[in-house]
Amino acid sequence: MDRYVVIGNPVAHSLSPEIHARFAAATGEAMAYDRLLVERGDFARAAHAFFGGGGRGANVTLPFKEDAFAFSQSRTARAEQAGAVNTLAAKEGSILGDNTDGAGLVRDLTANLGLALAGRRILLLGAGGAARGVVAPLLALSPAVLVIANRTEERARELARRFADLGPVQPAGLDAPGEAFDLVLNATSTSTRGEPLALRPAVFAPGATAYDMAYGKSALAFLETARAAGARPCDGLGMLVEQAAESFLLWRGRKPETASVIAALRAA
Ligand code: ATR
Repeated sequence: MDRYVVIGNPVAHSLSPEIHARFAAATGEAMAYDRLLVERGDFARAAHAFFGGGGRGANVTLPFKEDAFAFSQSRTARAEQAGAVNTLAAKEGSILGDNTDGAGLVRDLTANLGLALAGRRILLLGAGGAARGVVAPLLALSPAVLVIANRTEERARELARRFADLGPVQPAGLDAPGEAFDLVLNATSTSTRGEPLALRPAVFAPGATAYDMAYGKSALAFLETARAAGARPCDGLGMLVEQAAESFLLWRGRKPETASVIAALRAA
């Protein structure tokens, strides 16, 4: 049976095995999908061993997306743009690196949540790896502006410069992102680390959507702040399932249905 893994540290909490098991059952694809815990600094050896042993593909989560980028022998344009890889696929004896995070986020925002973002104002909080992976796909939605706000403003400036050719992107400090926004995305690591994120309630325009790229308990603090400010709170569970569906498509050539999987995970 074709073997796949999700590589991370920690990885025990990952929902990816359950998501891909549901996709495989629904599409009739015969595949095994497990978790692979790897020590920091040991990514290349572990990935080499997995693919050398006949593994067909891997999802890569924190903290290894840049290691996976370096490990890839060829890369898709969107992986090059993100500077990070979350999906590896064995293709004709070589390892292809892709990044499906941005496509997964955009699909959740537009298809699942029904947001029309052309001409709207988007605020992206954070300028680390998670933020970098979604800047180009967000700009492709033709927003009026995408403001990248970060605690360390210089990192926001760097990111805005890097993507300036792709659309109206502006940097800001966390405390000074300007006017109100129709969509506020949390791509900082405060969610996963359980740290508070100081935000002015005025960043949420009337009817705004607040989206945390983390899901479950991790997303609660940011989404509670957003709810108190009158925004519609959404966690990143839909993004997780959608990025997995894009990985599945790369590996198996078939795009699985996602709505029932998101609903099942929410119910659990
Ligand atoms: P990731 O790959 O998850 O994005 P990262 O590259 O370490 O991780 O980036 C973490 C992001 O969360 C950064 O934007 C970081 O801000 P700085 O660049 O100023 O460090 C942001 N972040 C982390 N802790 C934060 C906090 N307590 N308040 C605000 N932003 C925080």
